[in-house]
Amino acid sequence: MKPPVLGWGAATSSFQIEGGRSGRVESIWDRFCATPGKVFERHHADVACDHRHRWAQDLDLLSTLGAQSYRFSVSWARVLGEGWGFYDELVDGLLARGITPVVNLYHWDLPQIFEEEGGWLDDTIVERFAGYAHDAAQQLGDRVRVWLTFNEPNCFLGDGYGSGVHAPGKQVPTEVQRLAVARWARAHGAAVRAMRSVRPDFAISIALAGSVYVPNNESAIAAARERTWSVPEGNLWSFLPFIEPFQTGTWPDGWPASGEPAQPLDFITLNLYSGPRVDADGQALSRPWGAAANAMGWPVEPDILEWGPRFFYERYGLPVLIGENGVCTPDWVTAQGTVPDGHRIDFMHRHLVALERAQRAGVPLLGYHAWSLLDNFEWAEGYRRRFGLVHVDFETLERVPKASFEWYRDWIRTHPWGG
Ligand code: FCB
Repeated sequence: MKPPVLGWGAATSSFQIEGGRSGRVESIWDRFCATPGKVFERHHADVACDHRHRWAQDLDLLSTLGAQSYRFSVSWARVLGEGWGFYDELVDGLLARGITPVVNLYHWDLPQIFEEEGGWLDDTIVERFAGYAHDAAQQLGDRVRVWLTFNEPNCFLGDGYGSGVHAPGKQVPTEVQRLAVARWARAHGAAVRAMRSVRPDFAISIALAGSVYVPNNESAIAAARERTWSVPEGNLWSFLPFIEPFQTGTWPDGWPASGEPAQPLDFITLNLYSGPRVDADGQALSRPWGAAANAMGWPVEPDILEWGPRFFYERYGLPVLIGENGVCTPDWVTAQGTVPDGHRIDFMHRHLVALERAQRAGVPLLGYHAWSLLDNFEWAEGYRRRFGLVHVDFETLERVPKASFEWYRDWIRTHPWGG
C-alpha cells in the first residue's frame, strides 16, 4: 500500500532505550553486554533510559516537539517475556497524542534462545521470524499501518557474524555471511506475506544503511551513482543486496540467490549518517585535516540527504523516508541546567537544507526521523555516545531537552511537511 505522509519525527530502538530487563527474556545483546571485552566498560541495558516505565513522559516529549510520527522497535525478547501489553499501550499513547506509529520489528535484539538454534546462520529463523511478524500484525495491525521488518540488515549480519563487533559476536567467512543474507531475505519475504495475510493494506519497508556517495560537482554525478550501487567484495556494507532482490528478483553477481520471488517494498527507508565525496572518476576525495566529524569520527557530509533520496528514487521510483539521521556530540548539562549542543543544531540544519534540495529535485519524501529522541545505549560504545535531542542522565534517568530539541521544534513549526 502507498504509505501515508509521516512528516517530522524521531526514531528509537527497543534495546537502546527500554530497560525493564525483568520483562524480557535474554536477548543476544544482553548476553553480549555480559561478555567481558565486548561493550565499552561493560555497560548494559538492564535499565537503559527506563523507557519501559517512563514511556508516557517520553511520548509527551514527542508531543512537545511537534512530532507527527515516531519510529520505535518491538523487542521480540519482551514479547516472549511479558507479551504485547507494553506495545499496545505505546501505540495507544501515540495515537492519543496524534502521532503516527512506525513500527520496526527487528532492531538487532534477537532472543538468545533463537541464537542457540543458530540464529541467522540457521534456516529455522525464517519461520520463527515470520511467526513473530504475523503475531505483530494481529496484535497491533488494527492501529499500525506502517512497518519496517528490519533495521540495517547489513549491520546486524555483517557486524554480528562478520567482524564480530556486535552481538552475537561471531566471525564466519564472507560466503557464509552471504548465505545469511539470502536467508534473511527469505525471512523478510515470509514475514511480509504473513503480515499481509492479516491485512493486505500495510505499508512495509526495510531500514537500509550504506554509503551514499556524494558527487563533488556536476561532472561527478554519474560516478557517484555508480559507486553508490557498487557491491564490495569482502563485506556487506552496500545497499544493493538488501533491496534489489525484492524489487527485481535479482542478486548481485556471485551472491547466492534466496529463491524468493520479487516482492517490492512499499517505500524506501534510508538511515543516513555519513558518506564519501567523490570526483568524476569515482575516487573518494580526501578530507581536509580536522574536517567536521562526529564524536566517533564519522565525517559530516550533509549532501547525503540530497543524493541518497535522489539516487534511490531514480532507481526504484518509490517515496523515501529518512529513517535515521543524527550526530553524537559530547553533551553535558551545564551549571545553568541547559544542554547547548550547537553542533547538533548545525548538523541538522545543514542536513535538512540538503533534504529540501532532494524535494526540489522531485523526490517524493514521506518523512524525516531524527536519531534519536533520547540519548541511549549506543551498542558496543555503551552510553558514552550521545545522539539524543534529549539528554538522559543515566544515574538519575532525568531527561533534559537539549538546545537542538528546541531548534527542531521551531523548525517543525515553521516548516510544515511538504510545504
Ligand atoms: C544506526 C543504528 C542505530 C544507532 C545509530 C547511531 O546504525 O540503527 O541503532 O546505533 O546507528
